[in-house]
Parts: sequence; C-alpha cells; structure tokens
Amino acid sequence: MVVGSVLVTGGTGYIGSFTALALLEADYKVVIVDNLYNSSEEVINRIELICGKRPAFYNVDITDEAGLDKVFDEHPDIDNVIHFAALKAVGESGEKPLEYYYVNVYGSISLLRSMTKHNVTNIVFSSSATVYGDATRFPNMIPIPEHCPIGPTNTYGRTKSTVESVISDHIDAQRNNAKKQGNPKSGEKWNAALLRYFNPCGAHPSGIMGENPLGVPYNLLPLLAQVAIGKREKLLVFGDDYKSKDGTAIRDYIHVLDLAKGHLVALNYLREHQPGVKAWNLGSGRGSTVFEMIKAFSKVVGRDLPYEVVERRQGDVLDLTANPALANEELKWKTELTLEDACADLWKWTENNPEGYDQAPRKEFVEA
Ligand code: NAD
Ligand code: WQD
Repeated sequence: MVVGSVLVTGGTGYIGSFTALALLEADYKVVIVDNLYNSSEEVINRIELICGKRPAFYNVDITDEAGLDKVFDEHPDIDNVIHFAALKAVGESGEKPLEYYYVNVYGSISLLRSMTKHNVTNIVFSSSATVYGDATRFPNMIPIPEHCPIGPTNTYGRTKSTVESVISDHIDAQRNNAKKQGNPKSGEKWNAALLRYFNPCGAHPSGIMGENPLGVPYNLLPLLAQVAIGKREKLLVFGDDYKSKDGTAIRDYIHVLDLAKGHLVALNYLREHQPGVKAWNLGSGRGSTVFEMIKAFSKVVGRDLPYEVVERRQGDVLDLTANPALANEELKWKTELTLEDACADLWKWTENNPEGYDQAPRKEFVEA
C-alpha cells in the first residue's frame, strides 16, 4: 500500500538518494527531479538493487518552472516535496554568488510556485548547520540549539538562510490568506520542515551506494577516503591551534542513513501534526575533532593514514555540535549509528567503487 507520494528534488545526489531509498522502504511513491549536475543516473539502479523498487526520474532543472509543472501534471498524486537540489560548495559560493543564489534561492522559488499551482503543500527543506555561523560568539550556545541566532559567514550559508525565510514567509502567507477567506482549516495544510544538518557522512552498508566523488572533494571524510585508496598522498589538517582537546576543530558527524530517516520522520510529522514552519537540527549531539576522525578512519582501514597540519581554512569555526533535543523529543528521532559504522561503510563503498558510479568526471571538474 502506498502511504503517500513525494517529489524529491536533488534525489540522485548523496543525501537525496538515501532519502529516496528510505521513502521507498517506507512505502512512499518517489518521483525524483535532478539535472545531474553533481550526480549520476546510475544511482536509480542502485536504489532499485537495494530495495526492489524504482523511483521515477526526470532530468529537470529546478529553475525551470514549466519543467516542474509538467512533472506535477504527470503525477497528480504527489502531495509532498523534499527539496535537496542545490549547489553546495562553500568555497565556490564566494566565487560565484550569482550562480549560488540563482540555483539555491531562485530554484526554490520556482519550486514553491509550481507546488502552489498544483496544491502541493508540505515541504521538507535541506538547510544546514552552516546557517548558525560561529555559535561560539554567544555564551552557552554549544551544543547549538535551534534558537541560536542565525548568522551565516559564507555565501552558501546565506543562500540557505534566505531560502528558510522564503519558505517561512510563503507558508505564513498561505495560512493567513486562508484565514482571511474564512477558511483557516484549508490553510493548515501548508507546512514546512527546515532541517539543519550537521556533517553527513558514511555510505550504505552493502557497499553499493555512497557519495559519488565527482571532482575534488571538499569534505573531510571523502578526502580521507581518497588518501586511504591512494588517490591523495596525505590529508591536510586545517589548523591544530583551536581551543579543543587536541587543537583541531570539532564537528558533529552524522551517518547518512540516520539523516535519511530524519527526513522520513519529519515528513510524517508534517502530515500528522500540521505544525506550520518548524526548524529541527539533525545531528548526534556528539562532537569529534579532526584528529579523532583520522584515528577512527585509520582504524577501519587498518593502517595509519598520513597527514600534515597546515594553516586554518578561511571561514572555519571551532565547534559545530548540534543540540538535537528538539528532534529527539518532537520527531522521536535520534542517531543510531556510530562514527565507527560511518567509517566502515564509507571504506567499504570506497573500496568497491573507487570511481564512484563509474562516471567519468565532468570536464570542468577535471580542469578545476
Ligand atoms: P549533492 O550535490 O550530492 O546533491 C544535490 C543534487 O542536486 C545533485 O544530484 C545535483 O545534481 C542536484 N542539482 C544541483 N543543481 C540542480 C538544479 N539546478 N536542478 C536540479 N537538480 C540540481 O549534495 P548533498 O550532499 O546530497 O546535499 C543535498 C542537500 O543538502 C543540498 O541542498 C545541500 O546544500 C544540503 N546539505 C548538505 C550537506 C553536506 O555536507 N552534504 C550538509 C548540510 C546541507
Ligand atoms: C570538517 C572539519 C575542517 C578538510 C561543510 C560545510 C557545511 C556543511 C557540511 C553543507 C573542519 C577539517 C576538512 C580537510 C581538514 N555542508 N578539514 N582538512 O566545513 O564542517 O562543513 O560541510 O551544508 O555547510 O561548511 O565540513 O568536512 O569540510 O570539514 O582539516 O582537507 O575537517 O577544517 O574542521 P565543514 P568539512
């Protein structure tokens, strides 16, 4: 029995593909929209291989409102959206702000317009812990609760906080308009979850689905995996002069399978409780330093991985650890998998798929 139907934008990407899998496993129908800018269609086969169900796939750009309209027209049963599609490289966002605002902000507006025309009223949005910026600038804000003031320190983060505002304003307006028209009940069907993820990592334990390493990775664990598989000589550790127990920066690493489940429970919560707009942190509540991560990954690989300490990376902050109490209480969600699980699954995926989904890197990445 199908429990509902979900349009997943960015559903061939890393987190989107795991969420599509979790949705199919929970008997949702899944329709993926992705322009394959940073992903491979091969992931659709891998999803089917794991769960025996195949999501529908459309190669559509989210900035193409007419293209989105067509997808909604072909699937009138879609009643929810999970919105992952975005550009996500922090460094690049400072170099190409217009592209980042165009895809992330305008693309989200185009999606909301198309949803509204088709009376699709629940949206789960991929926000990011990066919207908090440096939470250590406030007293008592580590671990970070949702009421920590927003203050992104990079262009990518500002696109995410802008989309949070766009979604909130739109949902509020739809609810207020319905009230003015004397039909507040019909307004209550408008709901949004703003999910602020901390540091997603890991892969499927089968070793057949993971983060597709197109181009040069930016994040710590994919880089460590490249060192371990011999594609990179050593890891550069960005600073060992932070005020942490070993001098390296602290992050809250969360297994992508736990994160995918977080989307499922957030969507179910919107459908059952109609809360309006709610932000939830999705993190473990446990911080790990860069050195601890190197140690944990070295352990599953079975040898010490080479590294060199260099200068701090511009824009990095000391500590981004979640306070996930709200998601624990309201969504009845908490992380179940450990760092060791994430490292072991990532290593299995890397050994099995050194070239990701066997796709040649795109030209611009090769030249970068
Ligand atoms: P990803 O790059 O693997 O997935 C994003 C997907 O969106 C890709 O498949 C890409 O092809 C697609 N896409 C990009 N532009 C598009 C467009 N114009 N139209 C249609 N599709 C488009 O990234 P991810 O790590 O899976 O991230 C998913 C979401 O989560 C993003 O919104 C990202 O900002 C957010 N997020 C990621 C992290 C992280 O560390 N991975 C952390 C917090 C938030
Ligand atoms: C983790 C730690 C680095 C690489 C980013 C985005 C954030 C979110 C998640 C999307 C930091 C250190 C890293 C390396 C290192 N994405 N590091 N050497 O910066 O916490 O978060 O991804 O929303 O918005 O900013 O993740 O994996 O890049 O870094 O020492 O080669 O590892 O300094 O302390 P980050 P990361």
